[in-house]
Amino acid sequence: MSNLRTLVAHIVDTHHAYLRRELPRLEAIIAKMSANHGEERPELFQIQQLLQDLQDDLSTHLMKEEQVLFPHIGGLELSRETGGPAPHSCFESVQSPIRMMFMEHDRVQTLLQELRAATANYKPPQAMTCDCALRFYKGLADLEADLLEHIRVENDELFPRAIELEHSLAACR
Ligand SMILES: [Fe+2]
Ligand SMILES: [Fe+2]
Repeated sequence: MSNLRTLVAHIVDTHHAYLRRELPRLEAIIAKMSANHGEERPELFQIQQLLQDLQDDLSTHLMKEEQVLFPHIGGLELSRETGGPAPHSCFESVQSPIRMMFMEHDRVQTLLQELRAATANYKPPQAMTCDCALRFYKGLADLEADLLEHIRVENDELFPRAIELEHSLAACR
């Protein structure tokens, strides 16, 4: 099992980088699509809004993870390895920011469900056969898959291991 700093680096380099690359690309395509076809397909505006909401939520979420929670988890791990002091933080337990991240993941999953419903399971409408529409719907389906895996790794691997690590450090002091 990799150490937590390696797992965090994997999450940032793979999943966070993916979102920073893909969200602006998909947003640019849907902006064009809704400008050109929104009159006859009002659901395009809804899809555009949902993507915007996802982007708004995720940009602060990723920042909180990268600037606060992940460095703290790395600090906890270093403290266990070196026997040095536990990292200083503005929260009492790593469980507080983790609880917040869990809630934000729930909200992201709700937005994904709404996106799936608004696109009939990411199916391009029959009338829209241009390459860019096909790439857009495929891009949304890929985004969902990557985000769900991203959330799974954090919720089911990283966060429980970080909580356990904090407990084991507290027990040694
Ligand atoms: Fe993340
Ligand atoms: Fe997250």
